[in-house]
Amino acid sequence: MADLRTRYLGFELRTPLVASAGPLTGRLDTLVRLEEAGISAVVLPSLFEEELVSESLELHDVLELGTEQFGEALSYLPDPGFYEMGPERHAQLVASAKDHLAIPVIASVNATTPSAFARYSCVLTDAGADAIELNLYAVPANPDVGADAVESRYLEAIAAVRDVVTVPVSAKLSPFFSSTGHFAVRAAEAGADGLVLFNRFYQPDLDLESLDVLPIVELSHPFELRLPLRWIAILRSRLPGVSLAASSGVHDGLSALKALLVGADVAMMTSALLQLGADHVRSVEAELRSWLADHEYVSSSELRGSVSQATGSDAGEFERANYVKVLHSWTSADNFAVPGLD
Ligand SMILES: Cc1cc2nc3c(=O)[nH]c(=O)nc-3n(C[C@H](O)[C@H](O)[C@H](O)COP(=O)(O)O)c2cc1C
Repeated sequence: MADLRTRYLGFELRTPLVASAGPLTGRLDTLVRLEEAGISAVVLPSLFEEELVSESLELHDVLELGTEQFGEALSYLPDPGFYEMGPERHAQLVASAKDHLAIPVIASVNATTPSAFARYSCVLTDAGADAIELNLYAVPANPDVGADAVESRYLEAIAAVRDVVTVPVSAKLSPFFSSTGHFAVRAAEAGADGLVLFNRFYQPDLDLESLDVLPIVELSHPFELRLPLRWIAILRSRLPGVSLAASSGVHDGLSALKALLVGADVAMMTSALLQLGADHVRSVEAELRSWLADHEYVSSSELRGSVSQATGSDAGEFERANYVKVLHSWTSADNFAVPGLD
C-alpha cells in the first residue's frame, strides 16, 4: 500500500486529506465520524467576531428586560447555558475535540482588526487548538480604501497572531488579489506557516418577487479546483518552507491527487463531505491509493509537486502562453459550432 504520509504545519499526517471549516467540523459527533473515516486533521468553523458582538448585544437586551419590575425579573433571566457566550462556545468545541480526537485540531478565526484576531486566537490556543487558521475573508466594499490598505490590514493580522501564539498559523486567502502570488509571499513573510488556497466568496442572489437579498450558500463544483491548482503550481517552488493546502473543488481522490501533483501538502474538503457524508473520506482515500498503485508509486511524496512550475520560470509568460493556447484550442475544436455561423 502506498505511503500517503505528509507534513502540514509541522504535523505528520497519515494522509493528505483534511476536513476544512464547515458544518461537519462544528459538532463533536461528526468530528468523531470524520476521524473514524480516516480524515487526518480538522479545521473547526471560524469564530466570527460579528457573531460574538451580536451575541453580547442579545445578552445585554435579555438582562435589561424586566429590570424595572424586580419581582418578575428573575424569571426573565436567560438559562445558564446562555451565559456561555462569546468565544466560550468555540473554546469548548476546541477542548472537546481535543479530548476525543487524536488528529490535529485547527481552530479558525475571522475578525475585523489585528488585535481581535490576536485576542481570539489566544482564547482558542488556550483551549488546546493545535494550530490557528486565519480566515481572511472580508469583502473590501469601500471604494475609498485601496488595495494596499486592505492587504496591510491582513498582513498586520497575521503578524499580530504570530506574535502572541506559539502554535503554527496558516492564512486562508481569497483568490481576489491584484497580485495573488505577491500577497501570498508577503503573508508568509508576515509569519504564516501555511496558506490555504482558497476561500470561496458566497455571493447573495436577489428574489425578484420580494426584492429581498437572498443569502445563498452554494456548495462547490469540482471544476473550482482549477483555481487552487493554478496558484499552488505557481507558488510551490517559491514558498518551499510554507505548507500549502488546496481548498475549493476537492471532491474525490483524483482531485486530491491533482492537488498533490501541483505541490499541495494537503487537500481540504467541505462540500463533498456535506453532500456525501463523513464516510466519503474512505472512498477518497481508496481512490487515491488505487491510482498510486496503478501508476506504481510507493508514496505520494514521490509525485508531490511534480507538475508545479520550477523556480526561476516566468509564471506570467507561461500563463499568458497558456491563455492564448487555450483560446485557440477552442476555435479549432472539432465540435465548434455557433448557431447561425457556417
Ligand atoms: C456551509 C459552509 C460553512 C463554511 N464555514 C466556514 C467557516 O466557518 N470558516 C471558513 O474559513 N470556511 C468556511 N467554509 C468554507 C470551506 O471551509 C471551504 O473553504 C469551501 O467550502 C471550499 O471548499 P469545498 O470546495 O471543499 O467546499 C464553509 C463552507 C460551507 C459550505
